[in-house]
Amino acid sequence: MSTNNTYVPGLEGIIGAQTAISMVDGANGRLVYQGYVIADLAEEMSFEEVAFLLWEGQLPKRGELEGLTSELAANRDLTNAATTALEALPKDTDPMDVLRSIVSVQGVEHRLAKPTRPLAVHATASFPTILATFHRRRQGLEPLNPRPDLGHAANYLYMMNGKESSPEIVRALNTYLVLLADHGMNASTFTARVIASTESDLTSALVGAIGALKGPAHGGAPSAVIEQLEQIGTPENAEPWMRDARKGGVRFMGFGHRVYRVYDPRAKILKAMCERMNPKFYALASKVEEVALRILHEEHPERPQSTNVEFYSAGVLQAIGLPKEFFTPTFATARVSGWSAHVLEQVAHNRIIRPQSEYIGPEPRKPVPLTERD
Ligand SMILES: CC(C)(COP(=O)(O)OP(=O)(O)OC[C@H]1O[C@@H](n2cnc3c(N)ncnc32)[C@H](O)[C@@H]1OP(=O)(O)O)[C@@H](O)C(=O)NCCC(=O)NCCS
Repeated sequence: MSTNNTYVPGLEGIIGAQTAISMVDGANGRLVYQGYVIADLAEEMSFEEVAFLLWEGQLPKRGELEGLTSELAANRDLTNAATTALEALPKDTDPMDVLRSIVSVQGVEHRLAKPTRPLAVHATASFPTILATFHRRRQGLEPLNPRPDLGHAANYLYMMNGKESSPEIVRALNTYLVLLADHGMNASTFTARVIASTESDLTSALVGAIGALKGPAHGGAPSAVIEQLEQIGTPENAEPWMRDARKGGVRFMGFGHRVYRVYDPRAKILKAMCERMNPKFYALASKVEEVALRILHEEHPERPQSTNVEFYSAGVLQAIGLPKEFFTPTFATARVSGWSAHVLEQVAHNRIIRPQSEYIGPEPRKPVPLTERD
């Protein structure tokens, strides 16, 4: 047994797993999926190709891609139990809570089934249907059936909006989904692997991962980015608002990262997309970015902070036309491919993940009877 007796807050720098799925090189600003640099995949590959890559370790041949595309299209329908549960949820439920609940309901029939690729495909295929069905219902509209002739990104937008989106918009969502598909040992992926390591099922791992992703320190930031920009209002107000905010201990949403000490390579791609697709957002956001980086540098020159993926994601997803409460669920729609790939990898070489804690409680003592405690 190996032991490391030093507690590191946030497990910073601790290696939680060996993985071939992705590598985050924080010092050099590189993200690699199975050997491929993200910039080479982002605008060239479909989400389906990248999901295959994450699950299988190589890019698909033509027949394999056709196979996966039709498998995803054939698995988009919800179970009857999930449809009933969706109808029962209040219309003002947060879409992330909807996703967490309905993924759970969808999985009840797979009780402790060993995670497999077909189950991963089914989960990945169903996320857009869950979200779009809820979105339509909360607007008082009839949910739409998935369109098997449309790809993953195009079908999601069709089911949300009731009409096909332009090729440019579909392409932008596809790039977003590719960029967000996996990211090393982030908190939600670690959560999924911990759950899988107990020999629990894929659904439980995904539900746990959704819960972890929801927090603003992880995937919950992009709608908060929009809210901060709304409060700042104008480029001229960026500096006074942000200096004031830091006095109150407010964190700038969309900045800082545990691993990246240089510009997040995904943010670089999203920034260029945002400039092209959402100039109004970009005009304010680029000023806010400049001020945020300056203030963060002044506060901690020894610990470089940069723009993270969430900042310009918000502008891109807004330009795609998604409501802001669907930003984090759309992140989950991408990341479910990575989560399930990690679960499959974990179960293939499993050992239960069970670290230790350092006890800092009282010395051993005897309980005093209730009558003597006043
Ligand atoms: C992502 C995040 C949780 C990483 O946390 P972390 O690894 O603990 O961060 P670090 O150890 O690098 O932080 C070091 C210092 O920088 C500060 N800092 C980090 N990100 C900051 C931000 N966005 N705004 C203001 N200060 C920030 C911290 O407050 C800390 O200062 P302190 O020691 O005086 O409290 C954190 O940067 C954050 O909360 N960012 C805002 C939310 C966000 O964008 N989330 C999406 C992440 S992809």
